Amino acid sequence: MSQPALESILQEKRLFPPPPSFVQRARITPERYQQICQEAEADPLGFWERLAQQELHWFQPWQQVLHWDPPQAQWFVGGQLNLSYNCLDRHLDNGRRHKPALIWEGEPGDTRTLTYEQLHREVCRWANGLKSLGIQKGDRVGIYMPMIPEAVMAMLACARIGAAHTVVFGGFSAEALKERLRDAEAKVVITADGGWRKDAIVPLKSQVDLALAEGVPSVEKVLVVQRTGQAVSMIPDRDIWWHELAPSLEEACPAEPMDAEAMLFILYTSGTTGKPKGVVHTSGGYNLYTHVTCQWIFDLQEEDIYWCTADVGWITGHSYIVYGPLSNGATVFMYEGAPRPAKPDCFWELIARHRISIFYTAPTAIRAFMKSGDALPRRHDLSSLRLLGTVGEPINPEAWMWYYTVIGSGRCPIVDTWWQTETGGIMISPLPGVTPTKPGSATRPFPGIAADVVDMEGNPAPEGGYLVIRRPWPGMMRTLYKDPQRFRSSYWERIPPKDGQYFYFAGDGARRDEDGYFWVMGRVDDVINVAGHRLGTMELESALVSHPAVAEAAVVGRPDEIKGEAIVAFVILAEGYGPGEALRQALMQHVVEEIGAIARPSEIRFTEALPKTRSGKIMRRLLRQLAAGSGISGDTSTLEDLGVLERLRQGV
Ligand code: PRX
Repeated sequence: MSQPALESILQEKRLFPPPPSFVQRARITPERYQQICQEAEADPLGFWERLAQQELHWFQPWQQVLHWDPPQAQWFVGGQLNLSYNCLDRHLDNGRRHKPALIWEGEPGDTRTLTYEQLHREVCRWANGLKSLGIQKGDRVGIYMPMIPEAVMAMLACARIGAAHTVVFGGFSAEALKERLRDAEAKVVITADGGWRKDAIVPLKSQVDLALAEGVPSVEKVLVVQRTGQAVSMIPDRDIWWHELAPSLEEACPAEPMDAEAMLFILYTSGTTGKPKGVVHTSGGYNLYTHVTCQWIFDLQEEDIYWCTADVGWITGHSYIVYGPLSNGATVFMYEGAPRPAKPDCFWELIARHRISIFYTAPTAIRAFMKSGDALPRRHDLSSLRLLGTVGEPINPEAWMWYYTVIGSGRCPIVDTWWQTETGGIMISPLPGVTPTKPGSATRPFPGIAADVVDMEGNPAPEGGYLVIRRPWPGMMRTLYKDPQRFRSSYWERIPPKDGQYFYFAGDGARRDEDGYFWVMGRVDDVINVAGHRLGTMELESALVSHPAVAEAAVVGRPDEIKGEAIVAFVILAEGYGPGEALRQALMQHVVEEIGAIARPSEIRFTEALPKTRSGKIMRRLLRQLAAGSGISGDTSTLEDLGVLERLRQGV
């Protein structure tokens, strides 16, 4: 191995078999699972092909299941379908016309329910609205929205007419929005006057104005939904109120038959350089993969009320609020806000009131709930819950146990789902009626997924190595927008192909135990996971260095009880600037303006030098140890100046 094996310290022996009452009713039973796994291993392409035939509506069948010219994959070549048709139209004739598709609650307590018929009508109207603004097949549309039903409508409307959406999380700053809109060359931006979050209004429209003021030449129109009613400035000829446009629009708009490989969306995510990566997903494979994983992993039953607490601005929102559940005809609950100090038990209250049966959230949220004590959830009737899920980062066994006993009362299986923006859907997870769970392990790969743990040469390293996927799968990203070379080098060449075998490198360290269970240890590259959100150290450093006071910066993560990791920045000041509290605050604010509130450093340490190797590489490993307050260990012989470390340790 060219790099040392990764060491895992977690040893967890508890085992929780699925409750028999759950197994009895489960969609996938242990017997069916055996059969599925055999099928998927014996003939992976046949397996996906049969599912595509059974589960989705196609306007036109495919000629080839997979065309694999590594790392370029094309699934269902020649096939035509439409995601919006699969998520809406077909449910109008299969008994779900009057079933709620979306049950929504706003933070101020207002509610809306849309049946499949109503959602279909609204999406058609939105699709016609986009067309009236000149949007055509293949165009890109930016979506910068609060968590309101119109966000879902806008996404489905794009899919309906064959435009690719790029949703930018509403917590990102104007600067981050501008960068993404520019890269995607969006023609229209859909936003709202604002949205409610933690008892305050997030001023989305004014952020769009700022982003566009600096020039995003591709953007012609801005469509604005009125949510909060606060005053916003509307620029004539560019900005249009949705409620003024909507009444003139027709309620019918046929879904455009789309090539299976037509781009469905671009979603930007952090990598190891300063520039966010535009992950591209296409139509057919993504529809199939999110549909099947959602159905089997969440054991969707007709009467379920399913709540995924993610924001639509992240991949979890795309795959498991919108496309996966709606393609299955599920009832999706959607909430606008976030738990806030004035109402710390609001999630439990919502579960009780809306009779939520499947609840999917993140470890960071679970840890925060755990900290606020058992009394809050115990005040509410959580008996409607039957399945719990988690995603975003490794879940520590204590948080898992709390979730299992206090929220699930020991009745609800937990699905710990490992996946990424790039994988499109869940890759490693228990199947709730089948897999005995171990707290902290995402357990086994989904049927058909060839996940493995290898060393840098691609040799098996189950005791600790790099998480890879050895075979294409339908939900996989197809490329990085306008950057196929980076797609190849970041994901497919980090572990060099061997004898025609390509390895998709996920960027995570993992190990497999004696039962073949995966234990994901976290990122092995320069990516920090803050509250389940990926931030590249380079992005953060570039943001800091763009401030005139900063000459150089190095950013690392340090373990944090609630957020998983917190951001610690080591900053060297430019000539003429001196350290101080005011500057520290100003730099924190600067990062918020450059990237967004999620990127605010928890700590900034001023320093005169950074530990570097003789070849000039910053030794982040040492900075991580310093930030964590643990002693310095490991090799320091390549360090250029040992004194730097001593001065940093003493806080000089
Ligand atoms: O490090 C892994 C972690 O989140 C990364 C993917 O982040 P993102 O693309 O933003 O997608 C998050 C939601 C799918 C992974 O590389 N991660 C995600 N889920 C888990 C996880 N780590 C451990 N266990 C998980 N269940």
